[in-house]
Amino acid sequence: MAKSNVSLAGRDILDIESLSVEEVELVLQTAVEMKKIMKRDIKKVPSLRGKSIINLFYEPSTRTRTSFELAGKYLGADVVNITTASSSVVKGECLRDTILTVQAMECDAVVMRHPIEGAAAYAAEIADPVIINAGDGAHAHPSQGFLDMFTIREAGKDFKGLKMAILGDVLYSRVARTNIAAWKKMGADVHVAGPMTLMPHDIEALGVTVHTRVEDALEGADVVDILRIQLERQKSGLFPSPREYARIFGVNEKRLALAKEDAIVLHPGPMNRGLEISFEVGYCDQAKIRDEVQNGVAVRMALLFLTLTGGKQIETID
Ligand code: CP
Repeated sequence: MAKSNVSLAGRDILDIESLSVEEVELVLQTAVEMKKIMKRDIKKVPSLRGKSIINLFYEPSTRTRTSFELAGKYLGADVVNITTASSSVVKGECLRDTILTVQAMECDAVVMRHPIEGAAAYAAEIADPVIINAGDGAHAHPSQGFLDMFTIREAGKDFKGLKMAILGDVLYSRVARTNIAAWKKMGADVHVAGPMTLMPHDIEALGVTVHTRVEDALEGADVVDILRIQLERQKSGLFPSPREYARIFGVNEKRLALAKEDAIVLHPGPMNRGLEISFEVGYCDQAKIRDEVQNGVAVRMALLFLTLTGGKQIETID
């Protein structure tokens, strides 16, 4: 792997916005090497031997938590999972005390998911371990952003001048905010579409083109990112009915045909089939949804490796 002067040693990864293009490239290039390791028969290297990582999840997760756990283990770290339902959080322990408790155990990194925007930044402010934001409310989900960028590159696309369509529940989506920031940083032309009730009032300030018809965002798109409708975050019904949503905004084969022939489809998962995405689109050749999951392990390996070693032990992964 080519050496880089850029370093993420000791850095908290709270969002992609605050990283430079060179830092983003470093993560993506390191993830290429990490993917080779996870494809080996014996997918274990000692790069993070002696390091301990705590996955602290205040919200449910399948992909992010499991892939951070595998990522740490593939690199030789000790990984412990804390889910709030079986922790002292149910006895009323506050975030500050929980963070300082895991710090006292000399962990090197805390991977943290929390329903409140800014929770990971708060943890980074009060604690010494590297904090990796695994999703904070509707704010940011940087490792999802990296895995989506990696998947786009892997599909043979680069960012400059590409038309990206982000569709659906933008209001509650940390994935949307993350990908808008990441893709604009890399020079893409980002379009969003969905019901106006699910669009942040200040969306234009993010430098995107806003459409009310998903067809207009899909027309000629290179990348189609379909967001999960986050029913658990909606305080009251923001669209008439699931059937109505699917009819007007759902991505089916007919709508997808408006995008470029070689367009790829992304979805962060879990999918609400028949709502924001049809069964056929979820399983079509253009859908890279399983690739996103696999690449999630590689980019999380890269993030742990770069923040905990600065990439200095690169020889151990060759
Ligand atoms: N994409 C994503 O964050 O999925 P999980 O909620 O399963 O981690």
